[in-house]
Amino acid sequence: MIDRNRVPEHVAIIMDGNGRWAKKRLLPRVAGHNAGMLAMKEIVKVSSTLGVKHLTVYAFSTENWKRTEDEISGIFKLLIKYVDSELDELNENNVKVRILGDYSVIPKAAIDRLEKSLKTTCNNTGLQFNIALNYGSRAEIVRAVNRINRDVKEGILPEDTEVTEELISRYLYTGEENGNIPDPDLIIRTSGEERLSNFLLWQSAYSEFAFTDVLWPDFTPTEYERLIEVYQNRDRRFGGRK
Ligand code: FPP
Repeated sequence: MIDRNRVPEHVAIIMDGNGRWAKKRLLPRVAGHNAGMLAMKEIVKVSSTLGVKHLTVYAFSTENWKRTEDEISGIFKLLIKYVDSELDELNENNVKVRILGDYSVIPKAAIDRLEKSLKTTCNNTGLQFNIALNYGSRAEIVRAVNRINRDVKEGILPEDTEVTEELISRYLYTGEENGNIPDPDLIIRTSGEERLSNFLLWQSAYSEFAFTDVLWPDFTPTEYERLIEVYQNRDRRFGGRK
């Protein structure tokens, strides 16, 4: 049983294993992503119910462009399908959508849906659902440093600006431009892989990690609650002592 008073404020998920799920069933990879999208839909709902404040999902990485054109266009078609079928309900549930990453380069129809989701949900105050899309953490940090440099040159930041951790945090995708998202308390990766894969490198300095062998399309609210329970049994010290 999970303690409702100590639910992680921010959960981030690496939704891995869609391809293997499809392969096991002799289905095309996109069928795995479709099943993954359905799993994601459930996890968004249960996150709201549990009182998680931020849910961040790794939907498409800067490295995912190496996949076949078919698979890439399939993922973006699913994104369109997800927004078209879910946006009303997300909005009714007071969910606020944010995008982390440079989504300007994805197919136009997908950009339109994302912008519609951002606009429709911008005043909502419930769960914040952050979708990492064309996201890579090293690129995010490089972008932050370049933007600090630019703002110093343009006089937006003082000439003698000292770069601090707080300043870098502000310039990340999770920073000011997206309302200063707190660092993730819990990072989940499915499918038995135990890597961060260029996800939230800066932000995960003190995150707890929970891994499960379950492939993402098979990930259920019950498994989610089990991992939250694992998290609640951890002893977080942030480098200090009890
Ligand atoms: C990793 O599994 C998953 C992805 C790269 C894509 C995640 C996408 C979805 C869950 C689809 C829905 C998303 C949105 C935003 C609508 P993998 O393909 O790397 O699996 P494998 O390691 O078994 O091959």
